[in-house]
Amino acid sequence: MVTASDRYGRFSIVIHWSTLAILVAVYACIELREMYPRGSEIREALKTWHYMLGLTVFFLVGCESRHVCSGRFHQSFQKPQGGS
Ligand code: HEM
Repeated sequence: MVTASDRYGRFSIVIHWSTLAILVAVYACIELREMYPRGSEIREALKTWHYMLGLTVFFLVGCESRHVCSGRFHQSFQKPQGGS
């Protein structure tokens, strides 16, 4: 059976799942802020976390794109040559 780790490199898998986890946190922060009164410290902190984690997502997407464009991503699909 072909598994994800056969098809994708470790780097791509880590970036993929980290991006998903951070996206959930970005969304949770902005939704949870509604529970707190305007101007409260915690509401402002949740917004700050939202911005920072949102920017982290863009950074991770940039890393993944560079990885794909660098050719290393495609090399991970090549099967080792069976010799001797
Ligand atoms: C993956 C990235 C992001 C997602 C999925 C996302 C999603 C959202 C959502 C669902 C809201 C709530 C909108 C509403 O309640 O009407 C929101 C609000 C907002 N987002 Fe993002 N966002 C992301 C990244 C960012 C980044 C990087 C910034 C800024 C650097 C940012 C700035 C804001 C601001 C200023 C608000 C309004 C907050 C307020 O009520 O004062 N977001 N975002």
